[in-house]
Amino acid sequence: MITSCTPLYRGPHFFERLFSCFFPIMLCRLHALLLAAAFFALIGTGSATRSSKRGLVYVPSSKHPDDGEIFVDNGSDLTWYYNYGYAETDLYDNTSLNFVPMLWGASDEDTSTTFLDAVEKLLDDGRNITHVLAFNEPDGGHSTGGSNVPADLAASTWKRQIEPLRKKGVKVGAPAVTSAPTGFTWLQNFFSECAGGCHPDFIPVHYYGNFEGLASHLGQVMATYPNMSEVWVTEFALAEEDLKTTQTFFNQSIEYLDRLT
Ligand SMILES: *[C@@H]1O[C@H](CO)[C@@H](O)[C@H](O)[C@H]1NC(C)=O
Ligand SMILES: *[C@@H]1O[C@H](CO)[C@@H](O)[C@H](O)[C@H]1NC(C)=O
Ligand SMILES: *[C@@H]1O[C@H](CO)[C@@H](O)[C@H](O)[C@H]1NC(C)=O
Ligand SMILES: *[C@@H]1O[C@H](CO)[C@@H](O)[C@H](O)[C@H]1NC(C)=O
Ligand SMILES: *[C@@H]1O[C@H](CO)[C@@H](O)[C@H](O)[C@H]1NC(C)=O
Repeated sequence: MITSCTPLYRGPHFFERLFSCFFPIMLCRLHALLLAAAFFALIGTGSATRSSKRGLVYVPSSKHPDDGEIFVDNGSDLTWYYNYGYAETDLYDNTSLNFVPMLWGASDEDTSTTFLDAVEKLLDDGRNITHVLAFNEPDGGHSTGGSNVPADLAASTWKRQIEPLRKKGVKVGAPAVTSAPTGFTWLQNFFSECAGGCHPDFIPVHYYGNFEGLASHLGQVMATYPNMSEVWVTEFALAEEDLKTTQTFFNQSIEYLDRLT
């Protein structure tokens, strides 16, 4: 699926192209994911009841339109979701899932405040927008779903589109880099380019690999950025394993994440 994706250019129809191109990849990745994200720093209950830690990353599929229903069925412990974009998912209209908008990427040509305006409109419409996410794997290339944004462009875009939201009481997430060493380097460059003008409230983490690797990576992120009030794991999986291995991985990870406060 990845190879069927044509290279992206960052032009006027960036998002349309992006999404038509990337949905299959994301679904392919997300399929193995349990579609869960966790977030720390709020007290976890350790039970499978509704929790502010339990979130969903899900992009609806026109081929399987009913799939998204399972996340809002009775007994779902999820409380929030994101979909890599800043338009809500229709299916979750009028549900108890809170929307977390994301500014996926950035382009040299785009000097607009489209994202900022869209989030302000949601707030004006009375939507409970408490957090936003920014830049999906900016240190990663398009072929793996990354937004491939240079740190200087990300910094200027951040100041224009993200930072102003803090004044409205919205908590803003640091760029969601990959877990590769390039992620740490990219973030370091980002903060230098920001020159003190970017103040993320929390830091997202992506991790693909086993439980020990996840826990170790989280430790490294928390040690590197002790000033972040929360860490959110917004993508993680031990991908392409059999069912039992996958369940064991998620059980162990969730139990661990629930214990962290
Ligand atoms: C959820 O609960 C309602 C009311 O108890 C019930 O009518 C509905 O069938 C349930 N839905 C599912 C998917 O279990
Ligand atoms: C959500 O509720 C509003 C107001 O009641 C309604 O107009 C809208 O169609 C609903 N959306 C969905 C997807 O059911
Ligand atoms: C908005 O969402 C947050 C987080 O889920 C929740 O704590 C808060 O009570 C909600 N506020 C309203 C007005 O619904
Ligand atoms: C956290 O630290 C980074 C540099 O490591 C800094 O640029 C950023 O502004 C800090 N965030 C806050 C909320 O102070
Ligand atoms: C994972 O946890 C669930 C819920 O507690 C349990 O039903 C299931 O048997 C566990 N699976 C594995 C493989 O540990």
